[in-house]
Amino acid sequence: MGKLYIEGGKPLAGKIEISGAKNSAVALIPAALLADGPVVIENLPRIQDVEIYTEILRDMGAELLWEDDWIEIDGRSLRTTTMPNGRVKKLRASYYLWGALLGKCGEVSVGLPGGCDLGPRPVDLHIKGFQALGARVENKNGMLSLKAERLRGARIYLDLVSVGATINIMLAAARAEGVTVIENAAREPEIVDVATLLNNMGANIKGAGTDVIRIEGTDRLRGCRHTIIPDRIEAGSYMILAAAAGADIVIENVIPKHLESVSAKLREIGAEVSEGDDSIHVIGRTKYRPVDVKTAPYPGFPTDLQQPMTTLLTQVKGSSIITDNIYASRFRHVDELRRMGAAIKVEGRSALIDGGAKLVGAKVVATDLRAGFALVIAGLISNGVSEIDGVQHIERGYENLVGKLQGLGASVWKEAGEASNVTRRKTINGTQLDA
Ligand code: UD1
Repeated sequence: MGKLYIEGGKPLAGKIEISGAKNSAVALIPAALLADGPVVIENLPRIQDVEIYTEILRDMGAELLWEDDWIEIDGRSLRTTTMPNGRVKKLRASYYLWGALLGKCGEVSVGLPGGCDLGPRPVDLHIKGFQALGARVENKNGMLSLKAERLRGARIYLDLVSVGATINIMLAAARAEGVTVIENAAREPEIVDVATLLNNMGANIKGAGTDVIRIEGTDRLRGCRHTIIPDRIEAGSYMILAAAAGADIVIENVIPKHLESVSAKLREIGAEVSEGDDSIHVIGRTKYRPVDVKTAPYPGFPTDLQQPMTTLLTQVKGSSIITDNIYASRFRHVDELRRMGAAIKVEGRSALIDGGAKLVGAKVVATDLRAGFALVIAGLISNGVSEIDGVQHIERGYENLVGKLQGLGASVWKEAGEASNVTRRKTINGTQLDA
């Protein structure tokens, strides 16, 4: 378990370059397997989830060449469509192997996915979609096995808006016979990104980004090149940090449209947000208005930013309420924020925040990816030194976290001996930290 140390209270300012989108990358990598030739994916973030995915594909026999920020994936050498537990348990998005391999090979047997513990995360809608396309489904010993002699296009209504189910059905349907229509589809930009890759490979997908997606299947897809969209969640995380820290930060390499809900909320509390063509400039203030935030599927306020937003609202004098309509129990960061002096109560799927207290550095644990970033913000704005355990959760989704924060002037370092961005520090304020 790696640890991150933060000495809070340093003034932050500067520019930050946003990486390729994690939630696109983990869908595009398995999608590449559908092609009958090599696929090059550019702007690939170097994060744990991507590393684990590449290891899974290598284990299955695919050929991969990963250089700098691009990867070439050739699925023609795939040896197996079976991948038991183990690595697939380490990330949620391993579920995309179901759709990709069902489409490519007509069968797949992969362990049920892991990922952040946000309470129950069922996969019934994925299964419903595969069955509608004609797959037989067996769920035994923690493995989901899918088989179909022939996939046939179908009309599929998703009872809930699901990013994963929408993408998974698109992947399988791209190689099905006939037309598939997904109704009540999710509209996240990452879905458009996957559809763009598949169309570049020769698929015929229309409507991605709306709630009705039409996929005309084809039996051959070719290799191609594709550039991943910027990570709107990483960008939103740094926007929220800028507001919380009263900092002046320019967030570069973003698509401002993807962040409208976040920009609007930050303006509502009183931060200054201005949009360029591919950048967003946030100037934080010291006085804000309390607000209510409700998470919703895109284009609503993302659940993935609910936790960082909670930290920001601890700095806003007065009562704010943040309600997570996607994951009812995504509140494991609250206990940790309380350790740092925040006054927050959880009621049902809402956090009631009595803001205005100065946070103090403490020993806390990052229980999941975005909870981790919420604690990073808390550490940066608090008095004293914080020790955040479980840094591996944060590195699942934030490329070069320490380097990017140091570039803004933060005093942050990882426990000695951990990977790249390590800065050795023995003591700070007279306290022995990493001996
Ligand atoms: C994706 C994102 C995750 C984000 C989430 C919601 C990836 C790899 N992860 O996760 O970062 O927090 O979207 O924006 O892209 N549900 C069901 N049955 C299903 C599928 C989902 O009940 O078969 C429910 C979920 O429990 C949740 C809601 O639907 O309450 C939305 O989940 P979904 O959009 O599927 O999330 P993921 O794709 O897993």
